[in-house]
Amino acid sequence: MLRTPHLIALSTGLAAALVAGPALAAGNDDAMLKLANTSGCLTCHHIEPGGKGPDGLAPIGPAWKDVAVKYKGQKEAQKTLTATVMAGSNPYESHWKGKVSGLAMPPNKVAITEADASRLVGWILQLK
Ligand code: HEC
Repeated sequence: MLRTPHLIALSTGLAAALVAGPALAAGNDDAMLKLANTSGCLTCHHIEPGGKGPDGLAPIGPAWKDVAVKYKGQKEAQKTLTATVMAGSNPYESHWKGKVSGLAMPPNKVAITEADASRLVGWILQLK
């Protein structure tokens, strides 16, 4: 009985080590995923295409790999998409109409700084 807390502490440490390991090899993916998660992006977005939203509908927002494909080679994309992330998207000018179940993206400036949003968008755009 007395040993249980030690066992829990040990296994938590082990799990942390296992999670930290591959992150080093994967460049900044882990840091970006953490930023996306703590900023709330992943409640509406998947990374991989084909994910479903609540009730099996289309996902709320576009998969980030689809975003990378759509804006590939567009020089202004990082700037314009960062602005959209901060201010929210225009529901009357949806870029993903029919492909997602969300009508528009709300402003995220309450959840993320512009510098972090720009880093995240830069990472999204290079996803393959
Ligand atoms: C409440 C749901 C929600 C959250 C939270 C959310 N998004 Fe979105 N996002 C959407 C929807 C819906 C769209 C599609 C907008 C459209 O059709 O133009 C979208 C679109 C996008 C696009 C593409 C915009 C375009 O014009 O094509 C990017 C990039 C993006 N989101 C990044 C993010 C990032 C980064 C975060 C976190 C800081 C985030 N989103 C948080 C719902 C969300």
